[in-house]
Order: sequence, then C-alpha cells, then structure tokens
Amino acid sequence: MAKLLGNLWNAVGIGALLALVVLFGFHGDNPGLVNGIFRYLHVLLGIMWIGLLYYFNFVQIPTMPKVPAELKPGVSKYIAPEALFWFRWAALFTVITGLGIGMINGYWLDALLLKPGFRVIGLGMWLALIMAFNVWFIIWPNQKKALGIVDADADTKAKAATTAMIFSRTNTLLSLPMLWCMVSQGALGGV
Ligand code: HEM
Repeated sequence: MAKLLGNLWNAVGIGALLALVVLFGFHGDNPGLVNGIFRYLHVLLGIMWIGLLYYFNFVQIPTMPKVPAELKPGVSKYIAPEALFWFRWAALFTVITGLGIGMINGYWLDALLLKPGFRVIGLGMWLALIMAFNVWFIIWPNQKKALGIVDADADTKAKAATTAMIFSRTNTLLSLPMLWCMVSQGALGGV
C-alpha cells in the first residue's frame, strides 16, 4: 500500500478512475454530461489554484520570518517554485474551464457584459479574471525575481517580494466575494 500510494500519480490515477465510475454510473446517459464534466474540472482546478493561494497566505508567508536563515533556501529554492508551477497553471485552466462552462451554457458574453440574469456570475468571472491576471502578470514575474529564478540585485529582489505579497493578499481578499458569485449562480439563480 505504501509503495502504491507513495507515488502521487498512482493516487491521482486511481481517484480519477473512481470518479469516472461514479460519473458514468450515475450520469452516463445524461445529455448535460459535458456541462457536468466542465463544472467538475473547473472546481477541481479552482481548488488547486485557491488552495495554493491560501497555502501561500495562511502558511508560507506568515511562517517565513520564523524560519532560520540557513533553512530559508529550502522554501525559496525548492518548495515555492514547485508550488508556483501548480499555482499558475491551475489558475489558467480554471479560467479556461470557467469560460468553457459559460460557452456551453451560452451566456459567457451576457455574463461578462453583466446583463440581467447573469450579473452575479459575471461579477465572479471578472473578479476571477482579475485574480488570474495578477497571478500571471504580477505575482509570477515578481516571484521569479524574488526567488532568484531570474537575476536581480538585492534591492530589486526585496521590492519584487513585497509586490508579489501585496497582490497575493489582494487575490486572497478577492477570492471571498468571487467564490460567493461562483456558487450562488447555480444555488440561488441569476440576478
Ligand atoms: C476566470 C476564472 C473563472 C471563470 C471564468 C469562472 C466561471 C464560472 C462559471 C461560468 C460557473 C457556472 C455558474 C453557473 O452557471 O452555475 C462557475 C461555477 C463555479 N466556479 Fe468558477 N470561474 C472562475 C474561477 C473560479 C475559481 C478560482 C473558483 C475557485 C474554486 C471557482 C469555483 C466555482 C464553483 C465552486 C462553481 C460552482 C459549480 C456549480 O455550481 O456547479 N471558479 N464558474
């Protein structure tokens, strides 16, 4: 068992197989299956993205000042770059699957234009798009400097770390109303 589950991809593969059994077992002949699969992938990727955002904000950033100097490279050279890899790609694919749901249901443009009936999900989409923009165009470029993935002098590194932190905090803040918009459209209907 330890050998089997010691490999992450075995656990992911078995989980995916079980999900397929449940999915086709209950909804195999449902005409809305593609819509359902997009929602499933969207939530899965959203968990990966926002889960890592919360890891940075609730765990890594507050704990770093307490980590002894000689141990800090363990985080900055190994853990953070790996976390940022999954973080930014999960953000991109959350956007793609989210827009995909809007397209499958034929309301993506009405939502982005905040038309009646789609204002709440439209607002959620805009908030999440701003968050994804922050990830790819502000947090990631600044983290590359702060973590030494690209060359930068000490002053630039310190400024880049602060900018990345502020935008990561901004995304944590935005995630709370964004998630309400995501879930309330389905649960309570459009407004
Ligand atoms: C730009 C990025 C995003 C876009 C374009 C987007 C778009 C959408 C759309 C169109 C829906 C379907 C709403 C409905 O008709 O019921 C939805 C649902 C949802 N989204 Fe997002 N979303 C994005 C980011 C996120 C993020 C970051 C999360 C975080 C976990 C998230 C979590 C959810 C959840 C939980 C649902 C409800 C699924 C359901 O009720 O079936 N979304 N999203």
